[in-house]
Amino acid sequence: MKVLALTQALLGLAASVQATTVDYTTVTGYFLQDETSTDASTFDYTAVNFGLINRTYPADRHLRNPHSLTQWERFYHQVQKWNEESPKDVEYKVLFLGRHGEGWHNAAETYYGTPAWNCYWAELNGNGTATWFDAALTSAGVSQALVAHDFWQKEINEQRIHTPDNYFVSPLVRTLQTANYTFTGLELPKGSAEFKPLIKELFREGISIHTCDHRHNRTYIHDLFPEWPIEKGFSEEDELWNGVTAETSAAQDVRSEKVLDEVFFTSESIKENSFASVTSHSGEISSILRVIGHRTFSLNTGAVIPVLVRAEKNTKERATVSSVAWTASAHCTAPPVTSVSACVCPSSAAPVTTPLVTDV
Ligand SMILES: *[C@@H]1O[C@H](CO)[C@@H](O)[C@H](O)[C@H]1NC(C)=O
Ligand SMILES: *[C@@H]1O[C@H](CO)[C@@H](O)[C@H](O)[C@H]1NC(C)=O
Ligand SMILES: *[C@@H]1O[C@H](CO)[C@@H](O)[C@H](O)[C@H]1NC(C)=O
Ligand SMILES: *[C@@H]1O[C@H](CO)[C@@H](O)[C@H](O)[C@H]1NC(C)=O
Repeated sequence: MKVLALTQALLGLAASVQATTVDYTTVTGYFLQDETSTDASTFDYTAVNFGLINRTYPADRHLRNPHSLTQWERFYHQVQKWNEESPKDVEYKVLFLGRHGEGWHNAAETYYGTPAWNCYWAELNGNGTATWFDAALTSAGVSQALVAHDFWQKEINEQRIHTPDNYFVSPLVRTLQTANYTFTGLELPKGSAEFKPLIKELFREGISIHTCDHRHNRTYIHDLFPEWPIEKGFSEEDELWNGVTAETSAAQDVRSEKVLDEVFFTSESIKENSFASVTSHSGEISSILRVIGHRTFSLNTGAVIPVLVRAEKNTKERATVSSVAWTASAHCTAPPVTSVSACVCPSSAAPVTTPLVTDV
């Protein structure tokens, strides 16, 4: 417990010196998901045009015939207009944040119950019948990704939605598969960017000691989707997961901010490229929402949330944060005796903070 107290003290220190070069804010008033009256637990993005609110926009007056355009066409025009009119240190983007469909780790957490899952089963690679190390999608998860696929096609056909100019994806298998099932085979509008998602390390899930957060090596990922680019500097082995310490929310937010800095104000995403898709995870999407000042909005597996983000370069000197400490997580070394409300390890298998499995 001494170790734990120390890492928390370090964390407090690191968080207090943190500063940013870009300030991110959520521009509200355009999506239902931004409104406190919208209940995330019952919200269906496919039932309400991705949540885009029916309204007029200031930029409508520049349109010759706004009534012939759809809500998404007029919204896209408005976003373009903001980018045209804003100084060069300000950028607007719409991020379509998609959570992966159900993976084997989600099914196993339901099967074992969350306390037992967290304190023992999640630290294993699988149970002999199911594998959850870097979990793949279950068939239900594939169906959820196909719902997203069909919905995008409907939006393209009926709303003439501007499809993403850039696609990004977490390197974990469940997100790679979800992005693939969602976007492969869509009839994209003429002139739109092709679907070749950039695989980015820092869009991965919060890194716990669970093996579902341990990614495959680069070779494996490349062989799975040989056509997809992988960012420069992506290591062969997973250098972030260690099975002992878990990334804290504060550490995760620092990393989410870093990855957003790689997406905004970059040469590949000049202001005209204002729509981007990010296929990621529940924990990581929650972290991104915190960084952009969006209200909490939990997504079901396979769901997508669009967010309108305004980014502004901050001229203040950057105070560099070398690292934010992670915390050690304890777990049982044998199946827990009970898991109804909390995990209880068998007395012969007291909690430890050493990895349960080290092989892959
Ligand atoms: C916008 O209006 C259309 C009908 O004109 C309706 O079908 C749709 O549900 C409305 N969307 C929202 C988000 O209220
Ligand atoms: C392994 O976990 C899955 C749930 O994902 C369950 O259906 C299966 O029965 C488990 N297998 C064993 C051997 O316990
Ligand atoms: C990618 O998606 C396509 C279209 O749904 C599918 O046929 C293919 O099997 C998928 N590839 C992988 C590796 O999942
Ligand atoms: C990458 O991982 C796969 C399976 O997870 C393994 O078979 C392969 O040997 C590894 N390749 C390298 C270059 O380490």
